[in-house]
Amino acid sequence: MAAEFEGVTVVDHPLVQHKLTIMRDAETSTRGFRQLLRETAALICYEATRDLPLETVAIRTPLAPMQAKKIAGKKLVFASILRAGNGLLEGMLDLVPSARVAHIGMYRDPKTLQPVEYYFKAPEDLSERTVIAVDPMLATANSAVAAINLLKSRGAKDVRFVCLLAAPEGIRRFRAAHPDVPVFTAAIDSHLDDHGYIVPGLGDAGDRMYGTK
Ligand code: PRP
Ligand code: URA
Repeated sequence: MAAEFEGVTVVDHPLVQHKLTIMRDAETSTRGFRQLLRETAALICYEATRDLPLETVAIRTPLAPMQAKKIAGKKLVFASILRAGNGLLEGMLDLVPSARVAHIGMYRDPKTLQPVEYYFKAPEDLSERTVIAVDPMLATANSAVAAINLLKSRGAKDVRFVCLLAAPEGIRRFRAAHPDVPVFTAAIDSHLDDHGYIVPGLGDAGDRMYGTK
């Protein structure tokens, strides 16, 4: 990655890139989009959790006792930025079914491009857990920055951010606001248009997922 995008991992696995292309295609159905987002989320989650610490525990297989590895510490928290974050959340929970879940209700005012918060519910002990915030689109990054601010204000210290698509403008803003939060994405697109949409992007992720608009 260029130094400008330090802290950003682009998951360029062929399966991720293949599924992303189908999601970008305006002809893809709502059902197809939702399914592909779920599948892709699991693959990105695999990379975002690659460095989780392990501990050794004593178990007994049907043949012998052994020392085996388990993920150390408290259960992860996935923090979904509503609504579109739920599309990623489902796939991440497929991979880590025991994770705790936080919901952050937030929508982007289409005129100001500022996030409007309407809901927040998270486990109490965020300070003791790894928190992975999820939202498919990092456009201006106003929503993601505000969501991470909220999580940190509730005690979160070890935070990661998973998205599907990012704009260079959003990455710069996000990394300036939260340099301690690594970002995992399937692609970094060209730029934002005058309405704050990622180009070429995939359109409005929430609308594509739920068939609204
Ligand atoms: C979309 C997306 C992000 C936000 C990204 O949500 O899911 O939350 O926009 O834009 P930003 O980086 O410029 O803040 P939207 O506000 O459309 O809400 P929705 O998920 O409820 O559709
Ligand atoms: N939100 C979306 O859903 N898509 C974009 O391109 C930008 C913000």
